[in-house]
Amino acid sequence: MANPTETASLTVDKARPVRSLISLFRPYRGSMVVATIVFIIKDSPIWILPILTGNIIDVVVEHKPLNQLWLNAAIAAIILLMNFPLNVLYVGLFSNAIRRVAADLRNGMSTRLQMLSISFHSRTSASVIQSKVVRDAENVELALNQSYGIGLSAICVLVGALISTAIRIPSFVLVFVLTVPIAAALMISVRRRSSTLNESLRHEIERFSSRVGEMAALMPITRAHALEDVAIERVSTSVENVRSAAVTLDKFNGRFGSITWISYQSLGVFCLIAAAFAALTRVLPITAGEVVLLSGYFTILTGSVVNLLNLMPVMTKARESMRSIAEVLQESDIELNAGRRPVAAVSGELRFDALQFRYPESKRPALDGIDLTISPGETVAFVGPSGSGKSTTLNVVLGFLRPTSGRLLLDGVDMQTLDLRTFRSRVSVVPQESVLFEGSIRDNVTYGVNEISDDTVLQALRDANALEIVDALPDGWDTVVGERGARLSGGQRQRIAIARALIRNPRVLLLDEATSALDGESEKLVQDAVERLMEGRTTLIVAHRLSTIRAADRIAVLDRGKLVEIGSHDELLAANGKYMKLHAAQRF
Ligand SMILES: Nc1ncnc2c1ncn2[C@@H]1O[C@H](COP(=O)(O)OP(=O)(O)OP(=O)(O)O)[C@@H](O)[C@H]1O
Ligand SMILES: [Mg+2]
Repeated sequence: MANPTETASLTVDKARPVRSLISLFRPYRGSMVVATIVFIIKDSPIWILPILTGNIIDVVVEHKPLNQLWLNAAIAAIILLMNFPLNVLYVGLFSNAIRRVAADLRNGMSTRLQMLSISFHSRTSASVIQSKVVRDAENVELALNQSYGIGLSAICVLVGALISTAIRIPSFVLVFVLTVPIAAALMISVRRRSSTLNESLRHEIERFSSRVGEMAALMPITRAHALEDVAIERVSTSVENVRSAAVTLDKFNGRFGSITWISYQSLGVFCLIAAAFAALTRVLPITAGEVVLLSGYFTILTGSVVNLLNLMPVMTKARESMRSIAEVLQESDIELNAGRRPVAAVSGELRFDALQFRYPESKRPALDGIDLTISPGETVAFVGPSGSGKSTTLNVVLGFLRPTSGRLLLDGVDMQTLDLRTFRSRVSVVPQESVLFEGSIRDNVTYGVNEISDDTVLQALRDANALEIVDALPDGWDTVVGERGARLSGGQRQRIAIARALIRNPRVLLLDEATSALDGESEKLVQDAVERLMEGRTTLIVAHRLSTIRAADRIAVLDRGKLVEIGSHDELLAANGKYMKLHAAQRF
């Protein structure tokens, strides 16, 4: 089965943003070539019109026949009218290509994000990711949109003007050629500074995005503790940083724009005076029309070079955005599933073999030499003090964390050699805080499962003791629950999450029981549902309630990452050890 996460992949190099961007156009090069040719033709009036203007002035000054005037007028009319169809064609082709490149970048990022490890995602703020996929892709698109036409036009004007000057007044070619090195020198002189300023603005904006995301997520806590001012202050510090970075950049761009303008206007005035002087003193055989022609050329030429230089800020910003996008596309912390063995059938035996796991920055392992075999269909409850490694165990089983040493075997096969996605499609997870998304109850229950009959959904809801929740809602299971299920109570959310787990009919079930207390009635409903869910499946449950713990076949007691006791409730009480202490204190 071809997997979308392996077929689509974009190659982008952070060190070579421009080259990477150009390579993205490869699939659309046909459209780009045609668009470019159409543009060159459509843009030709810019350098042809000065020739016609010069001709017409000479008709007047040198009293040439009137039909010369009509001829020039006719040519002007044709080239001007041509602009409409050509421009429509150009915009169609060009827009199609760049919008596709932007779409490819966005899809490429979202594909890559799905391949990246959960550790990457826990390190990276969701808002930063959002800013890359939304804003950075937009910056690139915008820069392409603005700069391609202007850049091409500048080149056309330069080449057109050079050729026709070379034919009519060869001695002025040198002045025109001079515009190129001046532009290059201006660009090179500011490039590094401009790049640094753009980079710091981007980092400030990313930081700001994550502050705003944080503020939105913390809203209920902030308000409940009357910490509004603190939250506002945190955001406004970041707003201030963005503002000051942006002002620094604007001022820099302003100075640069002004220097460019002065340089080219001076050159233009110099050119006009030189042409007039040459014509007056007859050093060169220049007619009045040719003085106008030269001056006209110089005006459009400097106009387009100035436009081009003014694009520098947009282009630097886009280069910076490409780098930002590359940070995702090149991130190497991916789950290596390609080429690994897919899991065909899972019977559900899990064996921990001297398994150790240490979080990257911590001194002490979070799981230390765990040896444990869980038989197919067995339920093991994990208990232990906070921080003893219960959640870590579940994450290792899911493959979100890879053992630092030792092994975890699924049906006798080292999980490191398996394609974890095929394993996970046979796993259901009910997390501590049940996550629902903005959508109907039915969508939430059937998330990721295709073509499911209403009867199956109904049965899952019934088994999860969730049918009464659905019945009480105005639109039944089509009722849209607010983002993260805000319109449901904690116990209701858990039962919906259990229905979701049931519908997948998993072989392995991972349950992180919510610590939050539920009232007796609600607890009973959840407990019933959980027991139904565990039936016949290998279940690892992080348990906090005595009722759940007693329903398990065995209880594993963790303490500082070590498996200190294992056995049934009665066995462990009889052993009078750690479990006994936890039980006596009613603290699981
Ligand atoms: N992402 C992380 N990076 C570094 N250390 C971590 C990380 N997550 C957990 N730890 C550490 O690993 C140890 C085990 O954490 P774990 O979350 O597995 O505990 P737990 O038993 O689930 O606790 P609780 O009952 O409070 O949920 C703790 O000491 C914790 O500080
Ligand atoms: Mg935990």
